[in-house]
Amino acid sequence: MPTQALNGVDFFYEDRGKGLPLVLLHGFPLSHAMWSAQMADLASTCRVIAPDFRGFGKSQSDQPFTVDSLAADVHGLLKAIGALPCVVAGLSMGGYVALAFARQFANDLKGLVLVDTRADGDSPQAKESRTKTIDLVRKQGPKAIADAMIPRLLAPGADEGRPELARSLRRMIEDNSAKTIEHALIALRDRPDSTPLLPTLKVPTLIVVGDGDQITPPDIAEGMHKAIPGAKLAVIRGAGHMTPIEQPIQVNQALRLFVSKIR
Ligand code: MLT
Repeated sequence: MPTQALNGVDFFYEDRGKGLPLVLLHGFPLSHAMWSAQMADLASTCRVIAPDFRGFGKSQSDQPFTVDSLAADVHGLLKAIGALPCVVAGLSMGGYVALAFARQFANDLKGLVLVDTRADGDSPQAKESRTKTIDLVRKQGPKAIADAMIPRLLAPGADEGRPELARSLRRMIEDNSAKTIEHALIALRDRPDSTPLLPTLKVPTLIVVGDGDQITPPDIAEGMHKAIPGAKLAVIRGAGHMTPIEQPIQVNQALRLFVSKIR
């Protein structure tokens, strides 16, 4: 699997298929592996690229970062591998980075997909909870983060009869270092408010949300849908916050339709 040296890091990414690049940005505190069902299925439709953000998965780094610097890393990587302009899709934290990409690199963006995410910054209460989570990961490590997060990532009952869902999330979370999780919590806490960007977006935009998302529920997706001119909304049935792994068939269908209209 390829890596690209950039900004002091060997970035790991998966890259399959040909044509319009569709870049898939992972959520917190996961890795490119959360997109495996999309990589397998969509490579017959377009060029699908899924990187690990710095510090996550196989992109080893112990340096701090911001949401904006993650977007600059992604842009640098895509430039180096000849994948611009592109469609950027991001889940949750990946969605914050996708919005930062849209703000910084509008000329290289052909379309935007916001999956189980939100545009505003952290509320004072959310910032306080980040600080507690930083304390938790410092004292007890990634396993404690997995224990706390997994029940909220999936729709209630989603893993009944599918224990592999929680297992694969746990593997991704525990593969990340405590340091990277701490850096990410700081980046998420301090991220900019992207709400003012929404009405100015000029590219085709698709918003995807699980009908049982407990972290960024459908009313947040509906708010972004109203604010972005011409945006489309896909509500995924039977999914929580992790729509791409909980309901890959519905998500892949929505992505395929969206990308095919951009070409
Ligand atoms: C994610 O799934 O990336 C996180 O829920 C983002 C966040 O905590 O704001």
